Amino acid sequence: MGTLDGRTAIITGGASGIGAATVRLFVEQGARVLIADLQEEKGQELAASLGQEAAFLKVNVTREAEVSGAIDTVVSRWGRLDCVYNNAGFGGALGPIETTPVEEYDMTFDVLLKSVFLGMKHAAPVMKRQRAGSIISTASAAGLEAGMAPHLYSVAKAGVVQLTKSVALELGEYGIRVNCICPGAIVTPLAVGRPEPRAEQVQALRENAARMHALNRVGEPEEIARAALWLASDDASFVTGQALAVDGGVTAGRPWRNLPEFQRTPHPIRMYRLPEE
Ligand SMILES: NC(=O)c1ccc[n+]([C@@H]2O[C@H](COP(=O)([O-])OP(=O)(O)OC[C@H]3O[C@@H](n4cnc5c(N)ncnc54)[C@H](O)[C@@H]3O)[C@@H](O)[C@H]2O)c1
Repeated sequence: MGTLDGRTAIITGGASGIGAATVRLFVEQGARVLIADLQEEKGQELAASLGQEAAFLKVNVTREAEVSGAIDTVVSRWGRLDCVYNNAGFGGALGPIETTPVEEYDMTFDVLLKSVFLGMKHAAPVMKRQRAGSIISTASAAGLEAGMAPHLYSVAKAGVVQLTKSVALELGEYGIRVNCICPGAIVTPLAVGRPEPRAEQVQALRENAARMHALNRVGEPEEIARAALWLASDDASFVTGQALAVDGGVTAGRPWRNLPEFQRTPHPIRMYRLPEE
Protein backbone atom coordinates (compact mmCIF):
# COMPACT_ATOMS: atom_id res chain seq x y z
CA MET A 1 0.00 0.00 0.00
CA GLY A 2 1.25 3.45 -0.90
CA THR A 3 0.84 6.69 1.05
CA LEU A 4 -0.97 8.28 -1.92
CA ASP A 5 -3.10 5.34 -3.13
CA GLY A 6 -6.04 6.65 -5.19
CA ARG A 7 -4.82 10.26 -5.12
CA THR A 8 -4.13 12.52 -8.08
CA ALA A 9 -1.60 15.33 -8.44
CA ILE A 10 -0.21 17.93 -10.80
CA ILE A 11 3.49 18.65 -10.50
CA THR A 12 4.72 21.70 -12.40
CA GLY A 13 8.35 21.63 -13.44
CA GLY A 14 7.90 17.84 -13.25
CA ALA A 15 10.20 17.05 -16.17
CA SER A 16 13.45 17.76 -14.30
CA GLY A 17 15.24 17.94 -10.96
CA ILE A 18 13.09 18.19 -7.82
CA GLY A 19 9.86 17.93 -9.83
CA ALA A 20 10.92 14.75 -11.64
CA ALA A 21 12.05 13.10 -8.39
CA THR A 22 8.66 13.98 -6.87
CA VAL A 23 6.75 12.61 -9.85
CA ARG A 24 8.59 9.29 -9.46
CA LEU A 25 8.00 9.11 -5.71
CA PHE A 26 4.31 10.06 -5.91
CA VAL A 27 3.69 7.38 -8.57
CA GLU A 28 5.63 4.83 -6.52
CA GLN A 29 3.34 5.70 -3.59
CA GLY A 30 0.16 5.08 -5.58
CA ALA A 31 -0.72 8.49 -7.08
CA ARG A 32 -1.64 9.36 -10.66
CA VAL A 33 0.39 12.38 -11.69
CA LEU A 34 0.18 14.98 -14.43
CA ILE A 35 3.64 16.31 -15.31
CA ALA A 36 3.20 19.96 -16.35
CA ASP A 37 6.32 21.45 -17.87
CA LEU A 38 7.70 23.34 -20.85
CA GLN A 39 10.26 20.63 -21.62
CA GLU A 40 8.24 18.34 -23.82
CA GLU A 41 10.77 15.66 -24.66
CA LYS A 42 11.96 15.12 -21.09
CA GLY A 43 8.42 15.23 -19.73
CA GLN A 44 7.08 12.72 -22.27
CA GLU A 45 10.01 10.42 -21.61
CA LEU A 46 9.43 10.46 -17.86
CA ALA A 47 5.68 9.89 -18.25
CA ALA A 48 6.28 6.97 -20.62
CA SER A 49 8.68 5.36 -18.15
CA LEU A 50 5.94 5.38 -15.47
CA GLY A 51 3.12 3.83 -17.56
CA GLN A 52 -0.58 4.58 -17.04
CA GLU A 53 -0.08 6.39 -13.76
CA ALA A 54 1.61 9.42 -15.28
CA ALA A 55 0.84 11.76 -18.16
CA PHE A 56 2.59 14.80 -19.60
CA LEU A 57 1.07 18.13 -20.62
CA LYS A 58 3.07 20.97 -22.10
CA VAL A 59 2.27 23.93 -19.87
CA ASN A 60 3.76 27.37 -19.47
CA VAL A 61 3.02 28.15 -15.83
CA THR A 62 3.03 31.90 -16.49
CA ARG A 63 -0.12 31.61 -18.66
CA GLU A 64 -3.41 31.44 -16.81
CA ALA A 65 -5.31 29.47 -19.47
CA GLU A 66 -2.60 26.79 -19.53
CA VAL A 67 -2.55 26.38 -15.74
CA SER A 68 -6.35 26.17 -15.51
CA GLY A 69 -6.30 23.80 -18.49
CA ALA A 70 -3.88 21.50 -16.67
CA ILE A 71 -6.17 21.38 -13.65
CA ASP A 72 -9.19 20.64 -15.86
CA THR A 73 -7.20 17.86 -17.53
CA VAL A 74 -6.59 16.10 -14.22
CA VAL A 75 -10.21 16.40 -13.13
CA SER A 76 -11.65 15.19 -16.43
CA ARG A 77 -9.12 12.38 -16.73
CA TRP A 78 -9.02 11.08 -13.17
CA GLY A 79 -12.13 12.58 -11.53
CA ARG A 80 -10.49 14.55 -8.72
CA LEU A 81 -7.52 16.73 -7.75
CA ASP A 82 -5.82 15.96 -4.45
CA CYS A 83 -2.53 17.80 -4.79
CA VAL A 84 -1.11 20.69 -6.78
CA TYR A 85 2.64 21.06 -6.45
CA ASN A 86 3.71 24.48 -7.82
CA ASN A 87 7.35 23.70 -8.37
CA ALA A 88 8.43 25.03 -11.79
CA GLY A 89 11.17 27.62 -11.59
CA PHE A 90 14.39 29.09 -12.91
CA GLY A 91 17.16 31.36 -11.67
CA GLY A 92 15.64 34.63 -12.89
CA ALA A 93 17.42 37.93 -13.40
CA LEU A 94 21.11 38.04 -12.47
CA GLY A 95 23.46 40.89 -11.66
CA PRO A 96 23.47 44.23 -9.84
CA ILE A 97 20.24 46.10 -9.14
CA GLU A 98 21.25 49.08 -11.28
CA THR A 99 21.61 47.07 -14.47
CA THR A 100 18.64 44.75 -14.10
CA PRO A 101 16.24 45.27 -17.04
CA VAL A 102 12.57 45.73 -16.17
CA GLU A 103 11.69 42.96 -18.66
CA GLU A 104 13.77 40.53 -16.60
CA TYR A 105 12.06 41.74 -13.42
CA ASP A 106 8.68 40.92 -14.98
CA MET A 107 9.82 37.55 -16.28
CA THR A 108 11.32 36.54 -12.93
CA PHE A 109 8.15 37.33 -11.01
CA ASP A 110 5.97 35.70 -13.66
CA VAL A 111 7.80 32.38 -13.50
CA LEU A 112 8.49 32.27 -9.77
CA LEU A 113 5.48 33.98 -8.16
CA LYS A 114 2.63 34.51 -10.63
CA SER A 115 2.79 30.79 -11.46
CA VAL A 116 2.21 29.90 -7.79
CA PHE A 117 -0.67 32.36 -7.57
CA LEU A 118 -2.23 30.77 -10.68
CA GLY A 119 -1.81 27.24 -9.33
CA MET A 120 -3.48 28.20 -6.06
CA LYS A 121 -6.22 30.22 -7.77
CA HIS A 122 -7.31 27.36 -10.03
CA ALA A 123 -6.85 24.56 -7.50
CA ALA A 124 -9.05 26.36 -4.95
CA PRO A 125 -12.52 25.92 -6.52
CA VAL A 126 -11.93 22.23 -7.28
CA MET A 127 -10.54 21.46 -3.82
CA LYS A 128 -13.29 23.51 -2.13
CA ARG A 129 -15.92 21.32 -3.83
CA GLN A 130 -14.05 18.23 -2.61
CA ARG A 131 -13.54 19.85 0.82
CA ALA A 132 -10.00 18.44 0.74
CA GLY A 133 -6.68 19.02 -0.95
CA SER A 134 -3.02 19.80 -0.47
CA ILE A 135 -1.34 22.71 -2.24
CA ILE A 136 2.44 22.66 -2.09
CA SER A 137 4.89 25.13 -3.63
CA THR A 138 8.65 25.16 -3.88
CA ALA A 139 9.97 28.36 -2.31
CA SER A 140 13.64 28.41 -1.23
CA ALA A 141 16.00 28.96 1.68
CA ALA A 142 16.73 32.14 -0.32
CA GLY A 143 13.16 33.24 0.41
CA LEU A 144 13.86 33.09 4.14
CA GLU A 145 17.24 34.84 4.20
CA ALA A 146 18.94 37.36 1.93
CA GLY A 147 22.34 36.79 0.39
CA MET A 148 21.84 33.25 -0.87
CA ALA A 149 20.62 33.94 -4.42
CA PRO A 150 20.07 36.82 -6.88
CA HIS A 151 17.93 39.75 -5.66
CA LEU A 152 14.74 39.06 -7.54
CA TYR A 153 14.85 35.29 -7.06
CA SER A 154 15.08 35.85 -3.29
CA VAL A 155 12.21 38.33 -3.26
CA ALA A 156 9.96 36.17 -5.43
CA LYS A 157 10.58 33.17 -3.16
CA ALA A 158 9.85 35.29 -0.07
CA GLY A 159 6.60 36.13 -1.86
CA VAL A 160 5.86 32.41 -2.24
CA VAL A 161 6.33 31.96 1.51
CA GLN A 162 3.95 34.80 2.36
CA LEU A 163 1.37 33.80 -0.27
CA THR A 164 1.42 30.29 1.20
CA LYS A 165 0.61 31.56 4.68
CA SER A 166 -2.02 34.01 3.47
CA VAL A 167 -3.88 31.50 1.28
CA ALA A 168 -3.66 28.79 3.97
CA LEU A 169 -5.63 31.13 6.23
CA GLU A 170 -8.38 31.46 3.62
CA LEU A 171 -8.68 27.84 2.52
CA GLY A 172 -8.15 26.02 5.82
CA GLU A 173 -11.85 25.89 6.70
CA TYR A 174 -12.49 23.90 3.50
CA GLY A 175 -10.02 21.21 4.53
CA ILE A 176 -7.39 22.49 2.11
CA ARG A 177 -3.81 22.61 3.39
CA VAL A 178 -1.34 25.06 1.83
CA ASN A 179 2.38 24.74 2.51
CA CYS A 180 5.70 25.41 0.86
CA ILE A 181 9.11 23.80 0.97
CA CYS A 182 12.29 25.87 1.29
CA PRO A 183 15.16 23.80 -0.10
CA GLY A 184 18.82 24.55 0.46
CA ALA A 185 21.19 23.92 -2.46
CA ILE A 186 20.03 20.88 -4.43
CA VAL A 187 21.90 19.21 -7.28
CA THR A 188 19.65 19.91 -10.28
CA PRO A 189 20.10 21.54 -13.69
CA LEU A 190 18.86 24.84 -12.17
CA ALA A 191 21.69 24.90 -9.68
CA VAL A 192 24.46 23.48 -11.84
CA GLY A 193 23.68 24.57 -15.39
CA ARG A 194 21.59 23.58 -18.39
CA PRO A 195 20.90 21.70 -20.53
CA GLU A 196 22.87 18.88 -18.93
CA PRO A 197 25.28 19.88 -16.20
CA ARG A 198 28.95 19.15 -16.74
CA ALA A 199 30.69 16.98 -14.15
CA GLU A 200 32.97 19.81 -13.02
CA GLN A 201 29.96 22.12 -12.44
CA VAL A 202 28.33 19.49 -10.25
CA GLN A 203 31.57 18.99 -8.36
CA ALA A 204 31.99 22.75 -7.82
CA LEU A 205 28.45 23.02 -6.40
CA ARG A 206 28.98 20.03 -4.15
CA GLU A 207 32.18 21.55 -2.75
CA ASN A 208 31.36 25.27 -2.57
CA ALA A 209 27.70 25.29 -1.52
CA ALA A 210 28.26 22.40 0.88
CA ARG A 211 30.34 24.62 3.18
CA MET A 212 27.35 26.85 3.98
CA HIS A 213 25.17 23.92 5.11
CA ALA A 214 25.46 22.51 8.64
CA LEU A 215 25.40 18.99 7.18
CA ASN A 216 28.43 19.94 5.05
CA ARG A 217 26.88 18.70 1.84
CA VAL A 218 24.28 19.80 -0.69
CA GLY A 219 20.92 18.06 -1.07
CA GLU A 220 19.54 15.62 -3.61
CA PRO A 221 16.19 16.07 -5.42
CA GLU A 222 14.83 12.94 -3.71
CA GLU A 223 15.27 14.59 -0.30
CA ILE A 224 12.87 17.38 -1.33
CA ALA A 225 10.53 14.84 -2.94
CA ARG A 226 10.17 13.05 0.42
CA ALA A 227 9.13 16.33 2.09
CA ALA A 228 6.57 16.93 -0.67
CA LEU A 229 5.24 13.40 -0.19
CA TRP A 230 4.77 14.06 3.51
CA LEU A 231 2.95 17.34 2.87
CA ALA A 232 0.71 15.71 0.24
CA SER A 233 -0.18 12.79 2.52
CA ASP A 234 -2.49 12.38 5.50
CA ASP A 235 0.62 12.15 7.68
CA ALA A 236 0.64 15.97 7.49
CA SER A 237 -3.12 16.28 8.12
CA PHE A 238 -2.70 19.06 10.74
CA VAL A 239 0.02 20.98 8.89
CA THR A 240 -0.87 24.14 7.01
CA GLY A 241 0.55 27.62 6.41
CA GLN A 242 4.10 26.38 6.85
CA ALA A 243 7.37 27.12 5.11
CA LEU A 244 9.23 23.86 5.70
CA ALA A 245 12.98 24.32 5.42
CA VAL A 246 14.60 21.19 3.97
CA ASP A 247 17.98 22.78 3.74
CA GLY A 248 20.74 20.87 5.49
CA GLY A 249 20.71 23.59 8.15
CA VAL A 250 21.67 26.47 5.85
CA THR A 251 19.06 28.80 7.38
CA ALA A 252 19.97 27.81 10.94
CA GLY A 253 23.09 29.93 10.72
CA ARG A 254 26.83 29.72 10.20
CA PRO A 255 28.16 26.18 10.62
CA TRP A 256 30.34 25.66 13.70
CA ARG A 257 33.33 24.74 11.59
CA ASN A 258 33.20 28.21 9.94
CA LEU A 259 33.28 30.15 13.23
CA PRO A 260 36.51 31.97 14.12
CA GLU A 261 39.03 29.71 15.81
CA PHE A 262 38.84 31.52 19.18
CA GLN A 263 35.11 30.81 19.46
CA ARG A 264 35.58 27.11 18.91
CA THR A 265 38.43 26.70 21.37
CA PRO A 266 37.69 26.27 25.06
CA HIS A 267 39.39 29.11 26.92
CA PRO A 268 38.57 29.07 30.63
CA ILE A 269 39.85 32.53 31.51
CA ARG A 270 38.37 34.58 28.68
CA MET A 271 35.09 32.71 28.27
CA TYR A 272 34.04 31.51 31.69
CA ARG A 273 35.40 33.92 34.30
CA LEU A 274 33.57 37.11 35.17
CA PRO A 275 35.69 40.23 35.43
CA GLU A 276 37.09 40.92 38.96
CA GLU A 277 34.83 43.22 40.99
N1 LIG B 1 18.12 23.40 -7.11
C1 LIG B 1 18.19 24.20 -6.04
O1 LIG B 1 19.25 24.39 -5.41
C2 LIG B 1 16.93 24.87 -5.54
C3 LIG B 1 16.97 25.45 -4.26
C4 LIG B 1 15.83 26.07 -3.78
C5 LIG B 1 14.67 26.10 -4.56
N2 LIG B 1 14.67 25.54 -5.79
C6 LIG B 1 13.43 25.60 -6.57
O2 LIG B 1 13.03 24.30 -6.88
C7 LIG B 1 12.17 24.32 -8.02
C8 LIG B 1 12.56 23.23 -8.99
O3 LIG B 1 13.83 23.56 -9.53
P1 LIG B 1 14.97 22.47 -9.81
O4 LIG B 1 16.12 22.83 -8.97
O5 LIG B 1 14.41 21.10 -9.77
O6 LIG B 1 15.37 22.90 -11.30
P2 LIG B 1 15.19 22.20 -12.72
O7 LIG B 1 15.74 23.16 -13.69
O8 LIG B 1 15.75 20.83 -12.70
O9 LIG B 1 13.61 22.08 -12.89
C9 LIG B 1 12.79 23.19 -13.11
C10 LIG B 1 11.72 22.80 -14.13
O10 LIG B 1 10.80 23.89 -14.26
C11 LIG B 1 10.46 23.99 -15.62
N3 LIG B 1 9.99 25.34 -15.95
C12 LIG B 1 10.69 26.50 -15.89
N4 LIG B 1 9.94 27.52 -16.30
C13 LIG B 1 8.73 27.00 -16.64
C14 LIG B 1 7.52 27.56 -17.15
N5 LIG B 1 7.41 28.87 -17.41
N6 LIG B 1 6.47 26.74 -17.35
C15 LIG B 1 6.57 25.40 -17.10
N7 LIG B 1 7.69 24.82 -16.64
C16 LIG B 1 8.75 25.61 -16.42
C17 LIG B 1 11.74 23.63 -16.37
O11 LIG B 1 11.46 23.26 -17.70
C18 LIG B 1 12.29 22.51 -15.52
O12 LIG B 1 11.86 21.26 -15.98
C19 LIG B 1 12.25 25.74 -8.57
O13 LIG B 1 11.11 26.48 -8.18
C20 LIG B 1 13.50 26.30 -7.90
O14 LIG B 1 13.47 27.70 -7.81
C21 LIG B 1 15.77 24.92 -6.29
